[in-house]
Amino acid sequence: MADINIAKSNLERVGFLDVDIDPTIDLFAEIEKLKKEKNAIILAHYYQEPDIQDVADFIGDSLGLAQQAEKTNADIIVFAGVHFMAETAKILNPNKKVLLPDLNAGCSLSDSAPPELFRLFKEKHPDHIVITYINCSAGMKALSDIICTSSNAEKIIESLPKEQNIIFAPDKNLGAYLNKKTGRNMVLWNGACMVHEIFSLEKITKLKIRHPQAKVIAHPECEAPVLAVADFIGSTTALLKYSEKSDAAEFIVVTETGILHQMQKSNPNKTFIPAPPNNSCACNDCPHMKLNTLEKLYLCMEYETPEITMAEDLRLAALKPIQRMLDISKQYGL
Ligand code: 13P
Ligand code: SF4
Repeated sequence: MADINIAKSNLERVGFLDVDIDPTIDLFAEIEKLKKEKNAIILAHYYQEPDIQDVADFIGDSLGLAQQAEKTNADIIVFAGVHFMAETAKILNPNKKVLLPDLNAGCSLSDSAPPELFRLFKEKHPDHIVITYINCSAGMKALSDIICTSSNAEKIIESLPKEQNIIFAPDKNLGAYLNKKTGRNMVLWNGACMVHEIFSLEKITKLKIRHPQAKVIAHPECEAPVLAVADFIGSTTALLKYSEKSDAAEFIVVTETGILHQMQKSNPNKTFIPAPPNNSCACNDCPHMKLNTLEKLYLCMEYETPEITMAEDLRLAALKPIQRMLDISKQYGL
């Protein structure tokens, strides 16, 4: 193996431990061993590569992952997802070690809402409550009243009086979808996810003509014209459950391609077609999510780095709206 101290000193620059791994070792077996030795749990989002999903203790959507992070007894949480997800786990677990295989695993949606700009925006709407999608930084969470995910956003909005003015940030597509569903007129921040905005309505329509029986299932981060042709709209977990319950044999899946692994695993006789992006790139793969690899996962468990750390005052400010989300979700049985 290369010198671990050199690799650690470079960590800040590259975001992960750049250490050679013996190619003959069985990474799956080693990761299982490390989990037991260190009382570590691996929480993975559906957009992670299949190998990571297969070695995870829990795979879920953003709400499910936050709920697991809240209740785990593990000493180490290894978060196979993006930075805001691992940060949420740390906010909920100040005394646990939270590891992220690659610290550069960010999120374009989170980046579209810098807290210093959002603070000015918020000041212009003093009588508004701020509901913020979990895909944001701890700084944004600290400026929010309630956090939500795509699984609980509707219920969280409906838990507020009809006349309550609301700012919804940072996803304008999810916000517009929720305005339509709830009949509210929330003020929207102008942010978006680079992956969910890349789908081509024209290509989805062409696919639907070739597969007329296929159900179009879409994530609400997609743009309104794409959502308008969907048979079902929901969070990643909701899309997976729909594919399990539905009688349909074919599905056109309009979200990041990672979810297809679980869909195919739990429905071996059904066909899942990833919705195409509007060009020939693989842009329906999230470049941030896919920065994590099985190798980086193994190294971060072995050397317990990179670790998520945070100032305590920021953590406490960000905790309040997350806790409110978890409490409301519990009330609604989510
Ligand atoms: P959910 O898994 O909560 O639906 O979120 C999707 C997403 O884009 C996460 O980055
Ligand atoms: Fe962020 Fe979109 Fe990637 Fe999810 S899919 S992590 S919202 S960039």
